[in-house]
Amino acid sequence: MNNVIEIKNLKKVYNNITTVDLKSLTVRKGEIYGFLGPNGAGKSTTMKMILSLLEPTSGEIDIFGNPVEKNTEYLNHIGSMIEEPSYYPNLSGYENLLVFQKMIGFDKKNIWPTLELVGLAEKNNRRKLVKAYSLGMKQRLALAFALVKDPKILLLDEPTNGLDPAGIHEIRELIIRLAKEKGLTVFISSHILSEIEHIADRVGIINRGRLVYEGKIEKIKSNAWLEIEGDFFSDTKLKEVLEGTGVTDISDKILKFKNMDNEETSKIIRQLVIAGYPIYRVERKKESLEDIFLSMTKED
Ligand SMILES: Nc1ncnc2c1ncn2[C@@H]1O[C@H](COP(=O)(O)OP(=O)(O)O)[C@@H](O)[C@H]1O
Ligand SMILES: [Mg+2]
Repeated sequence: MNNVIEIKNLKKVYNNITTVDLKSLTVRKGEIYGFLGPNGAGKSTTMKMILSLLEPTSGEIDIFGNPVEKNTEYLNHIGSMIEEPSYYPNLSGYENLLVFQKMIGFDKKNIWPTLELVGLAEKNNRRKLVKAYSLGMKQRLALAFALVKDPKILLLDEPTNGLDPAGIHEIRELIIRLAKEKGLTVFISSHILSEIEHIADRVGIINRGRLVYEGKIEKIKSNAWLEIEGDFFSDTKLKEVLEGTGVTDISDKILKFKNMDNEETSKIIRQLVIAGYPIYRVERKKESLEDIFLSMTKED
């Protein structure tokens, strides 16, 4: 079974408003799948349906090939981190996990190795009460909660939310290490592309409940164009000079052309200079991934 999570025609409707409408989404075994989309796109709602915390209005979610509504046994194999977890502030990390262990019953022996894995077992941390934890430590404890049952799937909803850049880096490295060492399948959401692009094997981009892209991030094609800055006066002579050059945008200061090779570029520059227009800058431009993400998810 290569597909660990498979979503088919999944819908969630609140008061006649469709918040999730996913025709198909597939998370494969052993990959880190980045679930990207702006705030309100439907990421948390989707994740809650995967965890059976919310009932879909229609559609199907299969985990390891079995529909989730038939049998909740699959939940034993998912470790999750959804929204801000709450802890007992006057207990240590170990004691918090012990309370959890007594509630849901897993092997108590897992607790220390898990705390070690997330970096909360060193001498100066092991007895620390949670109220003295930094935000990063709390996020690491949340990861420990997700991992302590020794799951096969890790479902992380914006795990770096609220962290500073160093904290984000730390959690990101930890997730990569965990995925590798434990062979986990990771489904991780974020509203920030740059947080995900270097760790995800594949991404799904969701906008207003719909998937607008799924695949490798490198496959997202970006537009490239040529920009020439100078003093142009949008007169009839300029139009003549630019005829047949692939110009896409004309203004007094900047001309834009479709992407072209060096030979064509030098030819255009020569034509403009001969016609008497001063040139200040010639630049090949390319849309950044961030631009593409923003244009895929913009409101219209
Ligand atoms: N209980 C609810 N009742 C009505 N609308 C909701 C409820 N929960 C979420 N929504 C709406 O569903 C949409 C998706 O929300 P959410 O899944 O939390 O987005 P994300 O996690 O991507 O930020 C939002 O427009 C939100 O307002
Ligand atoms: Mg959310």
